[in-house]
Amino acid sequence: MPEGEDLFGIYRNMVLYDFQKEFHSGFFVSYYRNFTIPSTARTLAARGEMKHRPMKRSYDTAIVIHEIITGGFDSDRGQAMVDLLRRVHTGVPGTSEDFMYVLMTLLVLPLRWIEKHGWHKLTPLEESAAVAFYAELGRRMGLADPAPETLAAAGRLLDEDEDRKLASSPEGKMLLESTVEAIKIRLPKPLQPMTVRVLALMMDKPQVTIALGLKRSPKLLQLIFNAVVRARALRARMQPLPTNPAFVPGKIAVSVYPSGYTLDQIGPPQS
Ligand code: HEM
Repeated sequence: MPEGEDLFGIYRNMVLYDFQKEFHSGFFVSYYRNFTIPSTARTLAARGEMKHRPMKRSYDTAIVIHEIITGGFDSDRGQAMVDLLRRVHTGVPGTSEDFMYVLMTLLVLPLRWIEKHGWHKLTPLEESAAVAFYAELGRRMGLADPAPETLAAAGRLLDEDEDRKLASSPEGKMLLESTVEAIKIRLPKPLQPMTVRVLALMMDKPQVTIALGLKRSPKLLQLIFNAVVRARALRARMQPLPTNPAFVPGKIAVSVYPSGYTLDQIGPPQS
């Protein structure tokens, strides 16, 4: 790890400014990965949050991660969100491998999206910054094992897990169906009728598409999709970097929180 650099600050800058659109798409890909590991899908289905409140669940997930990225681990808001993560996962029946896998989806998949579709390639410092952020998140969540120390090792861990575990399951399909509505409203209006098709186009591995129970996209359509995303990246390269952050704590205005939210609204109901 590079020393003397504000690695969490670099990651914050990547997510909030430099690669806004790329992270938006990449986190989206990560979220649906949870449905492709049958044991995790079973746990999530049994809890019922994703089935009964799919929009709140998906926004809350994004909010928790973005709050920590934006405020930092030691801010009051960041600490409150780490506490929430520890609380909601207490008693969740998952192995430490399951937890590490989910953590790695959040690290690796957005960065793979950037490598494939981003407006510039990641620098080694940007990679280290992202790796350091998720290593710290895992530590703060109390995961039993330390996270991999390089992006390459993290990618290997993710791929090896997926080679062994990716599969479709009735629970995964059910979670996807309930969530499709939540996906729809996040897409640009003209694309909404094509939600399921776009979802399949965004997935980075054919096995993932199959495990989600989606139809594989025709090659031509995939080429067109990649070209559109590429054009967006080229346009971004010509334009000045955004000056407004992608996320402002408390201010996200979405159907679930039309006038923003307070932190006590985030997370499943406390029993
Ligand atoms: C380190 C890895 C993980 C991270 C970063 C993570 C992240 C999150 C986040 C941000 C939430 C909050 C969503 C909300 O407040 O509604 C959440 C909730 C939850 N997560 Fe995780 N998660 C991880 C691993 C796992 C695993 C492996 C499982 C299951 C085997 C799991 C099951 C749950 C459950 C049951 C909830 C409560 C909400 C619900 O019932 O759906 N998580 N997680």
